[in-house]
Order: sequence, then structure tokens, then C-alpha cells
Amino acid sequence: MGEMTMLGMPTVKDPRPATRQGRSYFIRTFGCQMNEHDSERIGGLLESDGMTAVGRPEEADVVVLNTCTIRDNADQKLYGYLGALKQIKGERPDMQIMVGGCMAQKDREVIQTRAAWVDVVFGTHNTHRVLDLLDHAEEWGPVTEIWEETASVDDIPSALPSHREAEHSAWVTITIGCNNSCTFCIVPLVRGRELSRRPGDIVREVQQLAAGGVVEVTLLGQNVNSYGRDLEMNGRRPIFADLLRRVGEVEGVSRVRYTSPHPKDFQEDVAVAMAETPAVVEQLHLPLQSGSDRILAAMHRGYNAARFLAKLDLARRAISDLTVSTDIIVGFPGETEEDFEATLNVVAAARFDSAFMFQYSPREGTPAATMDGHVDSAVIQERFGRLIELQNRITFEKNVEMEGGVYEVMIEGPSRKDPEMATARTRGNKLVHLPGSWSPGTVLDAEIVRAAPHHLMGRPI
Ligand code: 5AD
Ligand code: SF4
Repeated sequence: MGEMTMLGMPTVKDPRPATRQGRSYFIRTFGCQMNEHDSERIGGLLESDGMTAVGRPEEADVVVLNTCTIRDNADQKLYGYLGALKQIKGERPDMQIMVGGCMAQKDREVIQTRAAWVDVVFGTHNTHRVLDLLDHAEEWGPVTEIWEETASVDDIPSALPSHREAEHSAWVTITIGCNNSCTFCIVPLVRGRELSRRPGDIVREVQQLAAGGVVEVTLLGQNVNSYGRDLEMNGRRPIFADLLRRVGEVEGVSRVRYTSPHPKDFQEDVAVAMAETPAVVEQLHLPLQSGSDRILAAMHRGYNAARFLAKLDLARRAISDLTVSTDIIVGFPGETEEDFEATLNVVAAARFDSAFMFQYSPREGTPAATMDGHVDSAVIQERFGRLIELQNRITFEKNVEMEGGVYEVMIEGPSRKDPEMATARTRGNKLVHLPGSWSPGTVLDAEIVRAAPHHLMGRPI
């Protein structure tokens, strides 16, 4: 098992000379956009040390697994993957395996107990330490280093080098951590308390990205509407609505997205800022979680079904052509058939364009895990199927409503299935396939000629 080192405050260091020239790395990311974005930073750091990215773990000198722990199947996926890596490492003992991210933050030494062939375990608060930890492991053997928190906004690794997949599109962190206490959620435990970056730093980062050719940014935070609550600047607190406007003004950026707002904190000022800032897209991800007031209270969500629908209505009235997506959990402890039907009713009333639907997964250390009334998995399965059926129908109907309409789309790249086709997104984030070839980031108008359940076929005009 690895040595456990705990370090205190991060230190600012002189840039180190590149020591891994010619070596290669591969990163596999599990989980959400925050993790994807952290992986870009990890990739950037490894490249700053002379390494280059390769497409397969078999070819890599360093393999990084950036983990998620939001649901149990995320855990299982990691150990499955580590099993496969053990074989590869058996043939190439020099290969180094690093495990970072949310599950590493939670499981710590357990990872090397279950997978002794892992060289480095790091957490969510010390991604900037990957190079030092690789050095350490080379010299001294396996190591686990977990920090308990990110002490200040200045330690958010936004100043690290970054390896981005897409040249035209970038993520920008606005807050890390989460101060909410949703009873099902492990994020506050693994990502820590909420810290907001200063608006000037965020805007500067967006300006730099724009200068480098980025035309689309997605602002990232666990609960973007509480942005700025921990900051005080000239006697007042910065607010998310103002930040949206400022980012929307950055020259060259034509699409600003953000994720995610919390329905309890979503207010009119943000809806108005979205409507009044042309670059901010007409898209909202508003996580419902459940449509039952009783379950919402047990989840500690801070709103009921009627208030959720009122927020949705407020957003739709302020922003024309708004596309809305959501997250829903099926089978939270104590959920009865009646509670579940309340969810179906809200889903039918809300008419989301799309939904991420999850089966409840107990997470150790969260309040819900020890609640009474855990729902039988066969019952969860059955409800889950009904929810998916309803939402799929609504998603398809929403897509059909777009047929014949003309939408501004941004090219993402050639279609994976057919090189004669390009893949693009509307401002509302709907996937459109259209014939032709353009460079990523190109914006054009397309007529929607046919709707499919989960994508649209378009024709450039
Ligand atoms: N079980 C199932 N789904 C969960 N989510 C968060 N925690 C759990 C859990 N314990 C879902 C929520 C959240 C999304 C990112 O993941 O819907 O919004
Ligand atoms: Fe992202 Fe949450 Fe998974 Fe962490 S636990 S990677 S924050 S989805």
C-alpha cells in the first residue's frame, strides 16, 4: 500500500524544467464536465513536462484515471478499468498509473489496497501536484496524497497549463465545491466548500481564450447562482447575472453557456441577463430531481414542484425559444408509487427538451444512505423505464416541432459515422447532422429537415 502524505498549504514554485521529454500519456476521464475540465489541466501539466498525448493506454508511459463517485456504477467502472490496466502494466512495468478525482478523494488509501499496481493517488484539491507526485513515485514507490480542501480562490488551478480537445470551445471554472446539502449527493464531501473566482480573473481568462480562437465558453460551477456569495469586492458581492453580462461582452465569444443553476436560487435577474446578452445562449439546465413535494423535502432541495414550475415559467417568459434540460433521480428512499407519479406529472407539465435520468444510488456518508424506505431495485427499474418512455416521447415531440425551422448552428467537427456529414449544435444545444465539411467553430444557418428521437438532420442555407 502507498505511503500517505498530507500536505498543508500549496506553495508557489519556480517553473520546473521539463523532465519527461519524449514520454507519452493517456487520460481517461469519468463523470462530469468539472472532471473533464480538470483532466485538461492535468494533460496541460504533463505536456509542460515534455509529454505527449496518445490515444490508447497500451501506448502510454503514464496513464491517468480521473474518477467520479456520483453513483455506485462509477466506482465499479473504475475498478474494472484498473483490472485491465494491471495486465498492460504486467507487460510494461515502467508504466505509471495515476488515479485522481472525486473517487480518489473519497477512497484515498483504499484504492492502492484494492489495486496495488497504482503508483499515485491524488484528490480533487491537488491536481496541480501531479508532476511532483510522479517524481515522488518514481523515486520512492507508490504514494497517496489527498488534501482536505482548496484553501483559497487563488489555489483554484485555473492558472495551470491546459490541454483542450476542442480549439473553438472551452470550459471556464467560476466556482468550485458546493455549500448545499442535498441528502443524496456526495459532491460536497469530495469537492469541498464553495469558492468563487473573482469576476476579473474569470473575464481575463475568457479574453485570453478568445484571443486564442475560442468562440464558445461554458461557465462551470456546482451551483452557479450562488456565485459570489463568498466574495466581497468594494463593499458588495459580485453576482452571477453581472458575470454573465460581462462574459457575454467579451469580443469574439459568440456563445456563452453555463451549468448548473440550482432551482431554489434561480432568479429573475439571471433570466433577464440571459435574455439581454446576445452571446448567452437560450439554454437552461434546471435539475428537478423529483416532482414529489415530500421527496423534494427529504432531498433537502429547498423548493416544491409548484415553485420549480414557476421558475421554469419565469425563465421561459423572459427568454424566447428557451431549451431546457434537467436531472431526475428515480427511487430516492421512501419514494412511493404516488411520489413517482408526481414526478411523471411534473415531467409532463415541464416538457423538458431532454433529461438526464438516474436510478438512486446510495452514497456512503450522505444522509439519504441511512434513511428508511430504500426502494427495491426491481421497482426502481420499472419506474425508470416509465420515466424514460415519457421523456423520450417529449424529447422527440420537441424535436419534431423544430422541423422546417431555421436555426443558427455551430460546427463541432466531422460526423463520426459519416465523414461526408458534419456535426453541429444549435444555440439550444441540440445535436444537428448536416451534409458538408466546415472547420469546428464555424457558425451557419441550417434548416431542420427531419427530426429523430435524439438528433436533428439539417440542411445548410
Ligand atoms: N444517486 C443517483 N443520482 C444522483 N445524482 C447525484 N447524486 C446521486 C445519487 N446518489 C444525480 C443528480 C445530479 C446529477 C449530477 O447526478 O440528478 O443532478
Ligand atoms: Fe463530477 Fe460529481 Fe462525479 Fe465529482 S462526483 S466527477 S463532481 S459528477
